[in-house]
Amino acid sequence: ALISMRQLLDHAAEYGYGVPAFNVNNLEQMRAIMEAADATDSPVIVQASAGARKYAGAPFLRHLILAAVEEFPHIPVVMHQDHGTSPAVCQRSIQLGFSSVMMDGSLGEDGKTPMDYAYNVAVTRRAVEMAHACGVSVEGELGCLGSLETGMAGEEDGIGAEGKLDIEQLLTDPEEAADFVKATQVDALAIAIGTSHGAYKFTRPPTGDTLSIQRIKEIHARIPETHLVMHGSSSVPQEWLEVINRYGGEIPETYGVPVEEIVEGIKHGVRKVNVDTDLRLASTGAVRRFLAENPSEFDPRKFLKETVTAMRQLCMARYEAFGTAGNA
Ligand code: G3H
Ligand code: 13P
Ligand code: NA
Ligand code: ZN
Repeated sequence: ALISMRQLLDHAAEYGYGVPAFNVNNLEQMRAIMEAADATDSPVIVQASAGARKYAGAPFLRHLILAAVEEFPHIPVVMHQDHGTSPAVCQRSIQLGFSSVMMDGSLGEDGKTPMDYAYNVAVTRRAVEMAHACGVSVEGELGCLGSLETGMAGEEDGIGAEGKLDIEQLLTDPEEAADFVKATQVDALAIAIGTSHGAYKFTRPPTGDTLSIQRIKEIHARIPETHLVMHGSSSVPQEWLEVINRYGGEIPETYGVPVEEIVEGIKHGVRKVNVDTDLRLASTGAVRRFLAENPSEFDPRKFLKETVTAMRQLCMARYEAFGTAGNA
């Protein structure tokens, strides 16, 4: 059944688990997520970005998610809009039937320009008023995703600040977070702790200086009732980088957010964990390997089936690690 984010995250807080929020763009991702949830008895958050709507078209995405609800009626599903850049974008998603929206007022409508606190509060407050009137949940964001080493958001396209960020933007301030939640009444709050979108998060395995789990603890201590959200939380599995590079890919050395660090965050108020890149890496590795090993195959179902298997295994591992399993 389709449920709101608030319902799911309240349950997650009560029972002390986290929920991975996987991005969805196509049938294979949707199947992998649902089969993994079914196998592990996990509730699901699927999220669609502006890029996903551009790729698949809003009606296709909507029906893909509704088809998942129909095929797996026993699994609670949150249909979430990722990184909405204005209240108008959120309104369109609500009209499409999304049960949760993100109003990302940390950046402007271009998804690139860092905006000030007053702007963020104003647009988020407007989105909340609209969404709550429809029983839809809202995730806000305070602070900007980006590397604590370089101050860069990293993403070439998609959502990410342009130019160099400073430390005040890169680490969410606990006091400001408390004020923001009070002023906007968001259901969940995305925070900045040194992660960024995409595969190039860290040039070496992160330490406390580049990934601040400490900051999560400080924010949680200040606003223990608020459901915290980690963006840019792909772990960038070294095994998949090896597969990709063994079969013709060229991805330089890079590191993501270790699963153990996310688990530590979940002990301190993190309830939603955004993962997109890991599914992309698993898919690409699976396709490259299959086509290299089966050069005469040309039926796309053959290699796409490999992507479903690879992504399903990855989703299952996250459901187990985050404690989501057994809570559907
Ligand atoms: O916001 C970042 C997500 O990974 C979505 O990426 O905009 O390329 O679909 P996208
Ligand atoms: P990754 O790029 O680390 O998978 O992050 C995805 C995300 O935060 C989507 O909003
Ligand atoms: Na989101
Ligand atoms: Zn994000």
